[in-house]
Amino acid sequence: MPPRVLFVCLGNICRSPMAEAVFSHLAQEAGFECEVDSAGTGSWHVGDPADPRTLATLRTHGVPYHGRGRQVRREDFMEFDHVIAMDQANHRDLLRMAPPGTESKVSLLLEWDPKAPRTDVPDPYYGGPEGFEEVYRLVDAASRALLVALREEAAR
Ligand code: 4NP
Repeated sequence: MPPRVLFVCLGNICRSPMAEAVFSHLAQEAGFECEVDSAGTGSWHVGDPADPRTLATLRTHGVPYHGRGRQVRREDFMEFDHVIAMDQANHRDLLRMAPPGTESKVSLLLEWDPKAPRTDVPDPYYGGPEGFEEVYRLVDAASRALLVALREEAAR
């Protein structure tokens, strides 16, 4: 079965949609079959399209995205193989929600990238457009490392 990966941030309109879009795009380019989705720990943006600044940044890099916001649910921990948090607050919230026995599916995105300059993908919501470009750079590098790791996992 192809691996299923869920990216999680707070609002599900900035960082995790960026990760979902970039990782899907890289996997598709590499011919690696997987199922990818994203969700938020919060409920403010359920049903909303991604933030216009997220969409503009993705467009600049030629990455398509059409998803809508949704909130993380308990079933996600059963249905996905990897539940990947954008920052340590999301990571803590996910570990609190995770049904017993599923905690090992929860990780921090930038931990997958040994060269990542920091541990958290910073929340760009209240900042300027440069914050979105920074999110893109961090997410793109970590997604490349994650793809290598998941291809190795799938080959075992
Ligand atoms: P995200 O950014 O977690 O990267 O999607 C945020 C978007 C919206 C809010 C917080 C963070 N908000 O509070 O509405």
